[in-house]
Amino acid sequence: MRVEYPSPQGQVVALRDVSFTCPAGTSTALTGPTGSGKSTLVAVLSLLRRTTSGTVRIGGHDTAGLSGREIAGLRSTKIGVVLASFHLETSLTAAQNVMMPWFFRARRAPRREAQLRAVELLDALEIGDLADRSPHTMTGGQRHRVAIARALFSDPAVFLADEPADHLDEDAATEVATLLLSLPSRFGTAVVLVTHDEAIAGRADRRVDLVGGEIATPTGSAPRLAPTTTSSSW
Ligand SMILES: Nc1ncnc2c1ncn2[C@@H]1O[C@H](COP(=O)(O)OP(=O)(O)OP(=O)(O)O)[C@@H](O)[C@H]1O
Ligand SMILES: [Mg+2]
Repeated sequence: MRVEYPSPQGQVVALRDVSFTCPAGTSTALTGPTGSGKSTLVAVLSLLRRTTSGTVRIGGHDTAGLSGREIAGLRSTKIGVVLASFHLETSLTAAQNVMMPWFFRARRAPRREAQLRAVELLDALEIGDLADRSPHTMTGGQRHRVAIARALFSDPAVFLADEPADHLDEDAATEVATLLLSLPSRFGTAVVLVTHDEAIAGRADRRVDLVGGEIATPTGSAPRLAPTTTSSSW
């Protein structure tokens, strides 16, 4: 794929010839220097930004020809995203934040079921006892867990995290990363984690290094993990 941004000085090429696959049940650490295209790749994989050329496939289905409405549907069911500036609603409890996707659904399960799922997810992330508290009474690490639970609420096929531990101290950042790296085996999701931390990157199933908008050293722990196509899919 290729991704360009328009700018007054002309087109900025953020990604070129990038081929990227994230298989279910595996974690990928996305690394590279500042400006190398990591956030752009996350934005494209989460269908927040369209490619200039090349396509993103989800479960083998090409998303290129989809309408805005179809893209929104896929985003709310298949994709979980935690960005550095995740927004939690402080006037709501942790559980209500987690079940936020439910409020936006056209066809809803009963509210009670959504509430139960929210509390179960918070439990799974070891903050079940905070379900009725507002995020503004929580530590940074706890708030991250609420944001992760919210992103997991819709049972996404892929979970994308862009520098999720940016504002945390080292211990809390390691904890959040450990949690994210445990998602593939616990929930079967594919996880893509942008990180500048070498130790964390080394613990992912594989590592993809971007330099100047290109993949520098794709390494796969198994042949099936190697990028194989000119497009991106999971
Ligand atoms: N909205 C935009 N308009 C123009 N250029 C942009 C825009 N967003 C990003 N870029 C450029 O695209 C390239 C890739 O940016 P990107 O944010 O993907 O990098 P990154 O690897 O996430 O960097 P960082 O580690 O600093 O977060 C950079 O050259 C950046 O300046
Ligand atoms: Mg970035």
